[in-house]
Amino acid sequence: MGKATSPIAIGKKVGGALYVHRGAIPDLASAERKKLSVAEEIAQNETWNVAKIARDTVSLLEYEDFNTVAFPSLLQAWSVDLATRRVVHTNYALRANPPILHRKELLLRIDDARRERFAALTKQAEVLGLFEDSHKIGTKAAWAARLDAAGAVVHDGQIVVEPAGASSVQRHKTALVRRDLSQPMALMLRWGVIEDGCSIFDYGCGQGDDVSILNANAFKAFGWDPFHQPDGPQREADVVNLGFVLNVIEKPAERVMTLKRAWSFAKKALTVSVMIRGKQFVGGHQVLGDGFLTTRGTFQKYYGQEELRQFVESALGVRTFTLAPGIITAFRDPDLEQEVIYRRRSRAFRIADSFQIPLREPRAPRVKPSLRERIEPELVAVWRLALSLGRIPGIEEFDADLRQRLSAARVSLQRAIDLAVDGTYDLTLLGEAAAARREDLLVHFALGLFPGAAQYTTLSRSVQRDVKIFFRNYQMALEAARQLLFSVGDQRIVADATLTAISSGLGGMVDEEFFRFASTSLAQLPTALRLVVGCAEVVKRDLLDADFIDVDRRGGFVRATYCEDAARLVPRIVRVVNVDLKVQRSWAAKGAPDALYLKGRYMPWDDPQKASQTEFDSGLLGRGWVTPQGVGPRMTDLMAQIRSLEHGGQTPK
Ligand SMILES: C[S@@+](CC[C@H](N)C(=O)[O-])C[C@H]1O[C@@H](n2cnc3c(N)ncnc32)[C@H](O)[C@@H]1O
Repeated sequence: MGKATSPIAIGKKVGGALYVHRGAIPDLASAERKKLSVAEEIAQNETWNVAKIARDTVSLLEYEDFNTVAFPSLLQAWSVDLATRRVVHTNYALRANPPILHRKELLLRIDDARRERFAALTKQAEVLGLFEDSHKIGTKAAWAARLDAAGAVVHDGQIVVEPAGASSVQRHKTALVRRDLSQPMALMLRWGVIEDGCSIFDYGCGQGDDVSILNANAFKAFGWDPFHQPDGPQREADVVNLGFVLNVIEKPAERVMTLKRAWSFAKKALTVSVMIRGKQFVGGHQVLGDGFLTTRGTFQKYYGQEELRQFVESALGVRTFTLAPGIITAFRDPDLEQEVIYRRRSRAFRIADSFQIPLREPRAPRVKPSLRERIEPELVAVWRLALSLGRIPGIEEFDADLRQRLSAARVSLQRAIDLAVDGTYDLTLLGEAAAARREDLLVHFALGLFPGAAQYTTLSRSVQRDVKIFFRNYQMALEAARQLLFSVGDQRIVADATLTAISSGLGGMVDEEFFRFASTSLAQLPTALRLVVGCAEVVKRDLLDADFIDVDRRGGFVRATYCEDAARLVPRIVRVVNVDLKVQRSWAAKGAPDALYLKGRYMPWDDPQKASQTEFDSGLLGRGWVTPQGVGPRMTDLMAQIRSLEHGGQTPK
C-alpha cells in the first residue's frame, strides 16, 4: 500500500487568503484546485499569473513579470464570487499607486529554480528592516518611500544601498586616507574583540586602509564601501566594523538599515563608531536634519554617548559595551563578550599589554643568528601570552598565527615556551601577573554574584582553564568570590583600599567622603574598589563611560562624572550620576557644578599630562579662582575671567 502524502504547504497566506503562482497550481490541495478551476471557467481570462484563493472568492491576478521585476505591481484583477458567479474586473495598470507583491518565492513551487534567488532578495529587504510594519508597504508609492528612506534602490533584482551621489550630500568625501589603524580597529585589537585568526568585514571601509593594514598583519580582512569599494565582498565575518559611517548618513531611516545590515554580517561582534558631540567646531555649518552640512558638502551628525548606545541597542535588540567615547560593540557571541569585559577589567592583561621588549644594542651582524635572535618576536608573543594568563601557557593556548610562525621557523611550541620563560625576561613580572590574574578572576566571579549582574550559562574558554589552575574547581572559586563580595560591605576595607589607591598615585580625595579617579585607571585600583565600582556598573550600565568616578570611602555610594571633553584643562561636566549600592538605584544629580576643577589631583601618576595639568591647577589656586576644595566659578564665568586676563596679556599660570 502506498503511503498517504499530505500536500506541501505552498503559497503565501495573507488574512485568510492564499496567494499562489500559476506555476504552482499542481501542488495545491484538491479543494483549492477545484475552486480555482471554477473561477477560471467563470472569468474566462488567460493573462493572470497569481491566484488569490479565499473562502468564497477567487481572484485571478495579473502581476508584472516575476522574472524581470523584483517587486511586481498588480496590473489587473478578476475577482470571482464562487457562489453568485459574479466577476469584478479592476484595471490597476493606469493607477499611480497600485498594490505590489513582496516575497515572491513563497508563491512558487518548492522545486522552482527561482526560489533561492527571490528568497535572497527577501532576506536583503528583511535585513535592511524594509519589511517592518509590513501593512504599510503594500502599495507602490509606500514601498518606494520606504526604499528611499533607506537610501536603497532596486537594481537588477537586488537591493543596493543608493550611492548618495543622487543627493547633494557628498558622502564619499568623508573617507580619509589613514596611515595607522583607525581607533575602533585599534581598540578591538587591544581588547581582544579581534582575535588572532578571525575574519573582519569593514562595512563602509572608505579608502580601505584599515583593511590593508590588517591584512599586512596576517588578519583576514575585507571591505565594502558604496563609493570607494562598491565591488567589495559583502559576506559574513567574525567581526564587523561600522566605522564612522552612521554619522555621515543624513537620512535617519537609512542609518537604522545600515546598522542592521552591518549587524547581519557579524558572526561574533559588531563595533559601531561615530563622531561624538562637543569636540568639533560646527560654526559656519548649515543645519541639515539632525546634523550639519559642512562647507565641503558632507553631512555630519554628532552623537552623545548615551544617544549612540540607545540607538544601537534599540535597533539591534542587544546590549552594547563601550570601548571608548563614540565606539561601542554589540556581541553575538557571549563567550567573546565575557572575555572582552573581563579583559577590560583585568589587571593581568594590562601588565601584558605594557610589556615592552628592551631595545637591543646595535651589534655587528653575526654570520649566523642564534635561535633566540631568529624567533625573538615569537618569544615575545609567548611571553606576553604568559603575562596575560598569569601562568605558563599550555600549547593548546597558542593561536593559529603563532603556531604557524613557529612551525615555519621549525621550533616546537614546547621549545618556544621553555625559551620564553628561561629567565631572559623578568620572571618576577610573571609572579605579579599571576597574582593579578587570580584577583581579576575573583572580581569577575564576585561581580557575577551581585544581584542583577549579567549571567552567562557557560564560562569562557580561558576562564575555565584558569579556574582549574588558580582555584582547583568552580565551587572553590565561587566561595572565594562570595567572601570577597561580602568583604566590601566592611567600611574599613574600602577605606583602606582608598588610602592604598591614593598612595599609589591613582587618584585623590574630592572631600572627606569621596575618592575620585579617572575611569581609565580602574583596572589598577585595589580589588575592593574595583568591586565597588563593578557593582555600581551593574546598577548603572554605562558607568564606565564616565570620565571620573567617585567612590564613597564607606563603599555604599558611587558617583560618575561625564564630561564633554575630559582632555581639557577644565573639562565641562555634562552630567553627574549617583549610584546607591544599598538600594541598587541610580539617578542624575541635580544642581551639580558644570566645570571639573583641579583635574591633576585625580589623574594617575603615569599620565603624561599630569605635570602640566598640576601646574595649571596651581595657577587657578594661586589666583584664588578655585578653592582648595575644588570649588570654582561656573564655566561661563571662568571663560569671562580668562578672556579678561587675555586682554591684559596674561594667562592663568
Ligand atoms: C568617514 S568615512 C569612514 C571610512 C572608514 N570606515 C574609516 O573609518 O576610515 C564614511 C564612509 O561611509 C561610507 N558610506 C556612506 N553611506 C554608506 C552606507 N549607507 N552604507 C555603508 N557605507 C556608507 C562612505 O562612502 C564613506 O567611505
